[in-house]
Amino acid sequence: MVLHETNSPFRQDQAELLNKLLPTLTDGQRIWLSGYLAATVGAAVAAVPAAAAPQAAPAALQAAPAAPAAPALPKEATVLYGSQTGNSKKLANRLGDRLKGAGYEVTVSAMNDFKPNTLKKVARLFIVVSTHGEGDPPDNALGFYEFLHSKRAPQLDGMPFAVLALGDTSYEKFCQTGKDFDKRLEELGGKRIAPRVDCDVDFEDAASGWIDSVLAALASEEAAAASAPAAAAAAAVAAVAAEAPAQPAYSRTHPFRAAVLENLNLNGRGSERETRHLELSLEGSGLTYEPGDALGIYPENRPELVEELIEAAGWKADELVPAGKDGDLPLAEALSRHYEITLLTRPLLQQAAELTGSAKLKELTAPGHEQELKDYIAGRDLVDLIRGFDLKGVPAKTFVPLLRKLPPRLYSIASSLKAHPDEVHLTIRKVVYEAHGRTRYGVCSTYVAERAEPGSELPVFVQHNENFRLPADPDTPIIMIGPGTGVAPFRAFLEEREETGAGGKSWLFYGDQHFLTDFLYQIEWQRWLKDGVLTRMDVAFSRDQEHKIYVQHRMLEKAKELYAWLEEGAVVYVCGDKSRMAHDVHAALETILRQEGGLSEEAAAEYLKRMQQERRYQRDVY
Ligand SMILES: Cc1cc2nc3c(=O)[nH]c(=O)nc-3n(C[C@H](O)[C@H](O)[C@H](O)COP(=O)(O)OP(=O)(O)OC[C@H]3O[C@@H](n4cnc5c(N)ncnc54)[C@H](O)[C@@H]3O)c2cc1C
Ligand SMILES: Cc1cc2nc3c(=O)[nH]c(=O)nc-3n(C[C@H](O)[C@H](O)[C@H](O)COP(=O)(O)O)c2cc1C
Repeated sequence: MVLHETNSPFRQDQAELLNKLLPTLTDGQRIWLSGYLAATVGAAVAAVPAAAAPQAAPAALQAAPAAPAAPALPKEATVLYGSQTGNSKKLANRLGDRLKGAGYEVTVSAMNDFKPNTLKKVARLFIVVSTHGEGDPPDNALGFYEFLHSKRAPQLDGMPFAVLALGDTSYEKFCQTGKDFDKRLEELGGKRIAPRVDCDVDFEDAASGWIDSVLAALASEEAAAASAPAAAAAAAVAAVAAEAPAQPAYSRTHPFRAAVLENLNLNGRGSERETRHLELSLEGSGLTYEPGDALGIYPENRPELVEELIEAAGWKADELVPAGKDGDLPLAEALSRHYEITLLTRPLLQQAAELTGSAKLKELTAPGHEQELKDYIAGRDLVDLIRGFDLKGVPAKTFVPLLRKLPPRLYSIASSLKAHPDEVHLTIRKVVYEAHGRTRYGVCSTYVAERAEPGSELPVFVQHNENFRLPADPDTPIIMIGPGTGVAPFRAFLEEREETGAGGKSWLFYGDQHFLTDFLYQIEWQRWLKDGVLTRMDVAFSRDQEHKIYVQHRMLEKAKELYAWLEEGAVVYVCGDKSRMAHDVHAALETILRQEGGLSEEAAAEYLKRMQQERRYQRDVY
């Protein structure tokens, strides 16, 4: 609109100036200007006596001098998360709540629910994202990640942003996705208002620190944009915002002690596997879950390994050591349930080199020895480190606090709450392998297999997963691909569909080593096939014949029918091994689309990408 004296409150000379300036402004500049003007008006309005103000100010603000904070930008913030197992989502929501508490209008959204072409309209952008695979974005971040790194990404013209990265220092590409977003937003002209924080598996404190730093940066942004009295009000806003939001009764940070009701080995005699069917009571916890969610368990280290470590280091089991929020604990207890002792990470080795002054360890962790360090870390634990670098005698009090906190493990929930009120069932395969001349035991799976007797208790929490959900329409066909323990959530899916009387067709692809000993939940699938809850089932037992047969081979054998189901709108679910199975199943789906649908390689890849975006191809792989 062209401004002139009759359609605006401006004089002719003012209107001419504005008509010259306004068309040259970018979206970011317009947003900034509107915030700036709002700030000026805000200060003027604040000068009106309190009785004339339409709404009472919050208590903390009333204590401050008369003028409220006035931001330069509209008080809006967008929080986008990319999350596979729910941690980033939870933190994004926590930031959202804090921003709302500070008076911001907030949008919190999964990256795949956000329209990238609206990015230019965003006032402030906060990203909370984890890294998965081998340094890859989580599935629900893929589209936005690609968009932002493409030529279509807009210039951000000083848009304020900050990134929280979640990851695990035991992975080579630690927090890679968060690092990529942070770098790219700056390249596009965004203005970083708080430094990126890279969180390890014990992310709570670091994430809270980042949220505080974002709120503080916004408060000073407001203070800078406002008059002096408003700066005091801004500080008051930050104080209000710093109040911790109410926590649900039981959570990752406050796990529920669930009683073990049942713990059975699902494998037959002679199997190479040991897979536990675990039933836990949630009675009195108030915890609920949906099929597709996971349960987190806080494990304890194997007593034999704790003893071996204390012996190797020359420590005393009852000496007191710091154990974070638990205060000082006897060493044996701290090593059992507080610290990680089965895994070595680069930061740990670097700190150990500093602490002990070991020349050998310093050399291994020095720049230029990255590959050597990676090779050393693989398959080794703390006992190897102590023995291999002659660290016996290092004081427990200074060495033990260098260790990471023992992280919880996640397990796909294998039951429906409707079928088993107040219970949760899991399918856990014991991890045991040989490495560097010693038998190694997976911490949590061994804890469950060897020590979770019925009647004992496990500290647990529910990890919701919106990215692995039955279709809302009960008549939608579903294809479930879950070899090994990957079948766990599909037991939950079918229990749920049986309870709700869902009419949609269902097809399960299952596989393991041997039909006779490794057919997990065989009787249940057969009953569901008979009752029509499960429409089809194809199994692949890899070692029952000379050549290996896996689920992807069964899928290719049934290519025609599978393609017909896809065209009917079936939702495909893949759960289980990420390193090979998920990749091979993806390749099989591409082959089926090319072979049966006549699609080119690119078109098949595009078809699957679209399915992913439409949530018709969901994966929960680990
Ligand atoms: C969302 C999600 C759902 C999951 N659902 C299930 C489920 O339903 N059932 C289930 O059993 N697991 C499931 N897992 C995996 C589970 O969380 C644990 O990772 C698994 O039980 C191993 O944990 P652990 O503590 O026993 O072993 P850890 O002490 O964590 O040791 C495992 C590590 O040992 C190493 N390792 C294992 N085998 C070998 C080998 N042969 N050679 C060399 N190194 C090896 C690998 O580095 C591996 O990461 C799921 C994971 C996720 C993220
Ligand atoms: C299968 C798998 C692969 C992972 N790969 C990486 C990785 O390459 N780099 C990294 O820093 N963290 C990696 N992680 C750790 C996750 O980023 C970390 O657990 C994070 O807290 C998950 O957050 P989310 O629940 O929001 O997805 C991986 C985790 C899993 C389960």
